Amino acid sequence: MEILRKVDEIRGWSRNERRSGNTVGLVPTMGALHAGHASLIRAAAESCNRVAVTIFVNPTQFGPNEDYSRYPRSFDNDCALAAANGAHVVFAPTVEEIYPAGTATLVEVEGLSSRLDGLSRPGHFRGVATVVAKLLIAAEPDRAFFGQKDAAQVSLIRRMVTDLRIGTEIVVCPIVREPDGLALSSRNAYLSPTERAQALVLNRAIRNVESLFAAGERRAATLVATTRSIFAAEPQVRIDYIELVDWSTLDPLESAAPGALFAVAAYVGSTRLIDNTILS
Ligand code: PAJ
Repeated sequence: MEILRKVDEIRGWSRNERRSGNTVGLVPTMGALHAGHASLIRAAAESCNRVAVTIFVNPTQFGPNEDYSRYPRSFDNDCALAAANGAHVVFAPTVEEIYPAGTATLVEVEGLSSRLDGLSRPGHFRGVATVVAKLLIAAEPDRAFFGQKDAAQVSLIRRMVTDLRIGTEIVVCPIVREPDGLALSSRNAYLSPTERAQALVLNRAIRNVESLFAAGERRAATLVATTRSIFAAEPQVRIDYIELVDWSTLDPLESAAPGALFAVAAYVGSTRLIDNTILS
């Protein structure tokens, strides 16, 4: 498996593959790869004959007091995991390659950028939209693969790709979980054993909402209130948001319907975790 560092290299590789009749799948990541990322790489390898994984800890999507400098980095393991799951190249640029001195262009998806995670992490979604636009423009993939784990990020990227008429199909893959239900996340590495146990409250809350919905409950107020009462059993966990929204617009809903997004974010100690379900 090849490791590419320059935008011109990934663009040249992708154009060459596509000229030869191959389809190119792109899996953007920030590294610290786990089984959730692996599922995206496998999905890409199943639907495209060439797969590029990007590993880039994107500074512009971290707030000033967030974990950019201590974000887990494990490049060699990441390359091994990417190769084992079907990647043909890893694109791992430097910060200067993606944001050369004098860079002045940012991508803002208005409205969506200030919902859910965007509300509590100002500037986060501008950073995500900017880097994903840069990666899609650099690699020109036929398809790009994202996880439902970051459901609001998916809405934002879909909107951006539609608005900018980027010719890449966006594919969304299901959330991969630990056997006890905790959604896999690179940030789970920050949790102490006690916090790891407390973190299960997120998935408990999500499963409870799925059962209520299956039993016919539709009122957002009830779904949110019940979720709050489940979180109350873990007083060490601080809720950031509990929201029922339309998955495309991220507009709040008063009443749940199939396809609606129910999402939670909470701090377990100083670690911010998210989880969600698409109601069905
Ligand atoms: P990162 O957190 O590394 O995630 C990369 C991709 O893996 C995202 O699409 C994310 O939704 C997906 N993913 C993470 N955990 C998952 C899980 N448990 N199950 C399924 N998929 C999962 O998301 C980012 O990086 C960045 O914002 C990025 C899009 C790369 C832009 O910098």
